[in-house]
Amino acid sequence: MKYPKEYLEEIKQRLKVSQVVGKSVKLKKRGKEFIGLSPFSNEKTPSFTVNDEKGFYHCFSTAEHGNIFDFLMKTKNYKFGEAVRTLASDAGMQPYRFSKQDEEKQNRWKVYNLILEKYANLCSDELSSGKYPEIIKYLDERKITKKEIIFFKIGYAPIKSNFYDLLKKEFKEDQINSSGIFYLDEIKKIYIDRFRGRIIFPVKNINNSIFALGGRSLSKKSFAKYINSPETEFYKKGNNLYNINFAKNCRNQAEQIFVVEGYMDVITLHKFGIENVVANLGTAMTERQLDLIWRFFKNPIICLDGDISGRKAALRAAERLFPLMKAGFNIYFLTLPENLDPDTYLNQKGKESFLKFSESKIEIKDFIWDSYYNEVDKNNPSSLTLFEKKIKSLCNEVKDKTLAKYYLDNFLKKINSLTPILNSKKYKFSKFREMTVPLQVTKDIYKQRKKFEEQELKELSILYLIISNLDIFRKNIELISEINFSNHLIVEFKQKIIECLTSEKYFDRKVLKLDDFDQKYQELIKSINKNAPVKIISQNQNEEKILLIFEEIMNEIKEIDLRKKIESLEDKVSLNLDEKLYSELLSLRNQLKGG
Ligand code: UTP
Ligand code: MN
Repeated sequence: MKYPKEYLEEIKQRLKVSQVVGKSVKLKKRGKEFIGLSPFSNEKTPSFTVNDEKGFYHCFSTAEHGNIFDFLMKTKNYKFGEAVRTLASDAGMQPYRFSKQDEEKQNRWKVYNLILEKYANLCSDELSSGKYPEIIKYLDERKITKKEIIFFKIGYAPIKSNFYDLLKKEFKEDQINSSGIFYLDEIKKIYIDRFRGRIIFPVKNINNSIFALGGRSLSKKSFAKYINSPETEFYKKGNNLYNINFAKNCRNQAEQIFVVEGYMDVITLHKFGIENVVANLGTAMTERQLDLIWRFFKNPIICLDGDISGRKAALRAAERLFPLMKAGFNIYFLTLPENLDPDTYLNQKGKESFLKFSESKIEIKDFIWDSYYNEVDKNNPSSLTLFEKKIKSLCNEVKDKTLAKYYLDNFLKKINSLTPILNSKKYKFSKFREMTVPLQVTKDIYKQRKKFEEQELKELSILYLIISNLDIFRKNIELISEINFSNHLIVEFKQKIIECLTSEKYFDRKVLKLDDFDQKYQELIKSINKNAPVKIISQNQNEEKILLIFEEIMNEIKEIDLRKKIESLEDKVSLNLDEKLYSELLSLRNQLKGG
């Protein structure tokens, strides 16, 4: 019976993988993970890792991989239900009580599955009966061998059969009807096999149970080359992938999987020993399918037709999937040569060629960029503007905001290079940039200080630098007097600082203190000392470095200002492509590039 997702999640939330695994495997902490000797092999050097954050264990020597439930099922030979009950109790939770509806649904599922299994068996027997040499010949021409026929349980549904009557011996009519295999001919009042005269491809769910069918017609006259099961209580179109039941166990180091369009592609890749392959069966890839893939493979490679409509469909898919991108996962696109699908490619050119060719796959962000970039008229401001807007809005849709920032950064760099005006000033500080950008501590501080605007934080940093390095800024007062702070209190405070710097009283002081000021500014100083992100990197630096940091932050503030202006201009330009506004926009953009 199916446990509700939330119940299983709750158990996972309460129990760490290391806790569950740690009962039978001795684990040692190593970085974010734990490591130990694999319970799945007799190894001497540990290759078994546990990652609590991700909720998985992984064994590098046997490629075993899973969550806490899998662990008990694999190591103790528990059934899923037993694993759930045991772990729920370990987690201090009540055993789950299935409702009557749950039970009824479960019973309906059992019958549904039995009918489909039975039907698939009948079709498979029919194909091997020797009664249809033309079907065998067709499969032979398509280079499908007996091995694949058996592995994928390929069958044939005769044009005339007694399958309905055979099923009626075991199942009730309404049960057979809800399987979706037959439909009622309203006029003749008889049930008709919707797959009749077709080669049958049973579709299995992730637990290896048949829950849908695909049928390929042989006659060119037929209204559809392929038909699939209609949606039923248990089969929903965008939720599944053909061959995921098998492919999920073919994990590889690169965590790659080929996502192809059709049954034949899967079968042929499999035949050539490429078993990490699934098909989304002609539909556009859905979020559910992507989630399903990412559960097992971090790097799906979506194979697409090289023709124009194939590319267009792929771009639409890329745009739909892009917002779902998350750190550590990726999506690649592989455009096949025109008129070749993976099936024909492999049969014509072989495995090595295909694998070699697959190295030309393109990461989703580059795929999106390339697709749009090719469409842009590089001499047309309006076209360029639209392009930039499109790219920005796509980044905006990425739900993982940190990732969105990196994508945007990557795109903006490329956009900037479209009109390359190099200004050396930007690069003067690049060395310092390298030093500060990846500093995790600083980033974390930024994160904690979310309540502040980016600009406010930078202003706090500027103030922090000044009040902790009076000796340096005393010599450079003009640097301070030039600053336009955004907030009134800070502007006043700046005046105070200048007074201090020029007064004899503080002449030999390096740092300003709280009680140098009255109440009004004390809060501000506290906030500066607490929140200025620059605090960490500016301590114990020499004068040159401090001034460099100061200038860098000042530039960033100017940049923020500039960006705000650009954004508002962009909005105006997108509504009305006015020459004057546009040239203003270009000049601001160039200033931004100039740093
Ligand atoms: P294709 O038209 O690319 O077919 O459709 P294919 O897989 O290359 O088939 P062969 O090689 O001619 O036998 C790709 C997939 O789209 C779905 C099927 O799942 C098919 O495998 N499809 C296609 C349909 O559902 N209905 C159709 O009429 C055509
Ligand atoms: Mn094909």
